[in-house]
Amino acid sequence: MIEWFPEINWMRSILTLLISTILLLYWYTRIPSSMPRNIPTVPIYISLLGLWSDMGQDTIYDRWLRQPLETHGAVKIWFAGRWNVLATRPRFLVDMFRHEDVYAKAGSQKKIPWSVIAALALERPNQRLEELQTIIKKTLFKPLFFNFPDLDRYPFLFRQRKAAFTIMQEFGDLLCTTVLQRTTHQKGTNQNPDGDQVVDYLDRALKENRITEEQYRANLKVTFLTAHENAQQLLNSTFWVLGTNQSIQQKLRAEILATGTENPTTDLVNSLPYLFAVILELLRLYPPVSQLINRVTTSQSVLGGEITIPNHTWVGWNAFGAHTDPNIWGNDCREFIPERWGSDVKSIQGAVRSKTTQCHFIAFNAHSRKCLGQGFAVLQVKILLFEMEEWEDLSEVQCMVFLN
Ligand SMILES: *[C@@H]1O[C@H](CO)[C@@H](O)[C@H](O)[C@H]1NC(C)=O
Ligand SMILES: *[C@@H]1O[C@H](CO)[C@@H](O)[C@H](O)[C@H]1NC(C)=O
Ligand SMILES: *[C@@H]1O[C@H](CO)[C@@H](O)[C@H](O)[C@H]1NC(C)=O
Repeated sequence: MIEWFPEINWMRSILTLLISTILLLYWYTRIPSSMPRNIPTVPIYISLLGLWSDMGQDTIYDRWLRQPLETHGAVKIWFAGRWNVLATRPRFLVDMFRHEDVYAKAGSQKKIPWSVIAALALERPNQRLEELQTIIKKTLFKPLFFNFPDLDRYPFLFRQRKAAFTIMQEFGDLLCTTVLQRTTHQKGTNQNPDGDQVVDYLDRALKENRITEEQYRANLKVTFLTAHENAQQLLNSTFWVLGTNQSIQQKLRAEILATGTENPTTDLVNSLPYLFAVILELLRLYPPVSQLINRVTTSQSVLGGEITIPNHTWVGWNAFGAHTDPNIWGNDCREFIPERWGSDVKSIQGAVRSKTTQCHFIAFNAHSRKCLGQGFAVLQVKILLFEMEEWEDLSEVQCMVFLN
């Protein structure tokens, strides 16, 4: 009988397949019932927008995240293949950052200094390394794999991911070789045997068996990639803001010209308040690390005494949100006003300290996870801006040319 109606059978199979796919997707993306109920949920499609739209993260934040986050201080959000708690309210952030025992940094628990800009201090910048870095940046953040990292378990199904793994391998190998050559070279000339750069700490940790080969390699990769990536982002926003805001550029140039020197020392660039304030304002409005969900609860916890989060839940923060919340920064929070940081270096330093401690300003994270490269990164940009003063007025077009 059945052969008489083959199409019915065929349709039945299709329908079964369709229903099981939907059920599977539903099961995979459902919100665990244990997740906190007193905070809103960002619909899953917002997290997946990157799959079909090239909308910027700031636009997405303004349209869908700002309102719930400014009202509730935290939301449930889909990211990296699971539901997470994302917070912007300073009180929640302080709790999260202070209680590292409960909101543990996920992944390697070892306190290995990382994320220090250029601390690798490669002697000859390796061109292939730079090429690989660019390729990796493009591949790592492919929205499909970023949102469903489980797919990366099946590289044989996704040929481009197989290529990505190969690239990662080459990058790791090259980085290790470059760094190892540097170490031997330094030993040979007996320079700085107890070096205090991140790579020296890593070398010692490896030698003393405090970390494994694999951890050593992972830390090298992460340090190199984040340091480059974040510095590039900061540079980009610097050119953007100076190019579009002539009055800031002029005020900055006036301050730098008034020093009457062309060879800045560290002390000299550190003595310029407006320069410092401009960089802080850049970091506030354009935080290079704008969102990070990299902590996981080690037991049931109540964030800020309000939000009950189950054990083993991922939590994180959004710096752009915290930095542009009018409840924290006032109604002019979206405007670029360096003066808000203070008018002399001492008061600006005080403002940075207190705003960081209160988690109003988390461009460099805060508390025990504060970025070790903070001072170096800021100094680097200070010197860059100082040198730029020798150039003619930068128009928007020129800035765009520099960026390319
Ligand atoms: C540089 O910054 C501008 C302004 O924020 C942004 O539109 C552009 O996409 C950025 N470019 C890169 C390469 O990040
Ligand atoms: C929390 O979850 C982790 C991992 O699932 C488990 O090892 C740990 O024992 C749990 N902690 C408590 C207090 O239940
Ligand atoms: C330019 O700078 C002025 C003065 O700090 C500020 O009021 C204005 O919002 C800035 N404009 C832009 C486009 O950032």
